Amino acid sequence: MSFLRTILAAGLTISASAAAAQTAGPNDGRLLASNCMQCHATNGQPRPGFSSLAGKSASEITGEMLEMARMTPGKEPEKDLMAVHARAYTRAEIDLIAKYLASK
Ligand code: HEC
Repeated sequence: MSFLRTILAAGLTISASAAAAQTAGPNDGRLLASNCMQCHATNGQPRPGFSSLAGKSASEITGEMLEMARMTPGKEPEKDLMAVHARAYTRAEIDLIAKYLASK
């Protein structure tokens, strides 16, 4: 009986951690946003030609990301790089990134 209980408990633990792996962790936004820094910088002083993301609200960042994801390639060539990037994220990931960046 106790053997059965142990197996049952182990099974529950495994399925609980599998479920946890699919929900957002506290550092997911930071991890995802680390991709942005090579171009936009971490200190609000990006390289010439790149906007600073510092001081933007989460809804501004989300809005701009969604807008860029919908852009027609070639219309504003200087943004094509970012449009490709923006399209690569799910809506949930964009929200995590925006929330993290706005908190900095
Ligand atoms: C390979 C370089 C590169 C990376 C990496 C990158 N971006 Fe960009 N981003 C650009 C370029 C180029 C533009 C268009 C020019 C500009 O406004 O900086 C842009 C524009 C933006 C804008 C619009 C800024 C404005 O004021 O119009 C936002 C918001 C933005 N990026 C967010 C992000 C986020 C969030 C990430 C990370 C998930 C990211 N970018 C990663 C190159 C990059």
